[in-house]
Amino acid sequence: MTRIGILTSGGDCPGLNAVLRAASRACESRGWELVGFCDGFEGLLPPMNHRLLDRRATNGVLHLGGTIIGTVNKGHFLCRQPGRTGIFIPPEILGKARQTFQNLGLRALIVVGGDGSLSTALHMHQCGLPVVGVPKTIDNDIGATDRTFGFDSAVECVVSSLDRLHTTTASHKRIMIVEVMGRHAGWIALHGGLAGGADVILIPEIPFGIDAIQRVVSEREARGSHSHMIVIAEGARPRHGWPRPSSNNPSDRRSLAAAELLARELADSTPREVRSCILGHLQRGGPPVFSDRILGTAFGVKAVELVEAGLLGHMASLRNGSMGSVPIAEAVQQMRRVETGGEAIRTARATGISFGD
Ligand code: F6P
Repeated sequence: MTRIGILTSGGDCPGLNAVLRAASRACESRGWELVGFCDGFEGLLPPMNHRLLDRRATNGVLHLGGTIIGTVNKGHFLCRQPGRTGIFIPPEILGKARQTFQNLGLRALIVVGGDGSLSTALHMHQCGLPVVGVPKTIDNDIGATDRTFGFDSAVECVVSSLDRLHTTTASHKRIMIVEVMGRHAGWIALHGGLAGGADVILIPEIPFGIDAIQRVVSEREARGSHSHMIVIAEGARPRHGWPRPSSNNPSDRRSLAAAELLARELADSTPREVRSCILGHLQRGGPPVFSDRILGTAFGVKAVELVEAGLLGHMASLRNGSMGSVPIAEAVQQMRRVETGGEAIRTARATGISFGD
């Protein structure tokens, strides 16, 4: 009996269960067995926390958010060493994982994760463990794949939230600042803001000026618009950093989110009341939209095909609409950030959306 393992690691995202279900069925059709390790890589450690992912275990999960085998974004495998780039797995931890592979007779392990978890998978592969990858993040920022599942569901959450916020913001003639996820890449803010009718979109790739946002508000007021919708990615920053806190307490500003910091800056300099709303983990929860179910399913099938083809150290990847694979090393080398001259930015600018630059 060929047996393969699978685990989900890092922040959860809608579509993970679609991957597990598809991998289970692809294994079943080959007469293979799939075991799911619980709570990410931690499940590989003694006393081994795993469960059989057969048809019965994966029935009725396609529409569920989260992951039925759990995940962690910390733990024994995700160690960074001072002065050393990349992920380093302590040798004793690696040894225990190797023992688990041997005890269960695993032909391979499918790691479903973002850049941190895929870097761990790469390190395992470099140490001789048979691993393949599936890219996962709502942020859509993993290199070497055009799309990750979870992104569309997160954007859908942003868009439906903006639909709600528009009506209350307009009724009160306010400025609403909506913070969305995206520490290093602004894909969610860009697509959510574009589809949700934002007036200003602020992303990590385009440092903004507070004065530019004030100008947008003044111009819109002059044209007769008295409510304003600003979408800001959590990692977006003003060109010269956030102004120094006026409070004497320096810890005061550190605890504030980007939307709150911006609200402070705009409150005194605009004629309107300012409110902020942080969407946070709402964007990661709930059922996957149809496209994430399909993409998760395609990735799950592809991962099993990679194991069958012996393409260890590779990751499933979507390129120009086709499912293929790339070495994991290539995927973790470079983050996929928003191209500032790209199509979506040009479309947004052409419809009058400001990026605060
Ligand atoms: O990487 C995915 C992500 O959703 C980021 O956009 C966000 O900054 C982070 O995870 C939040 O992680 P946590 O669940 O640990 O707060």
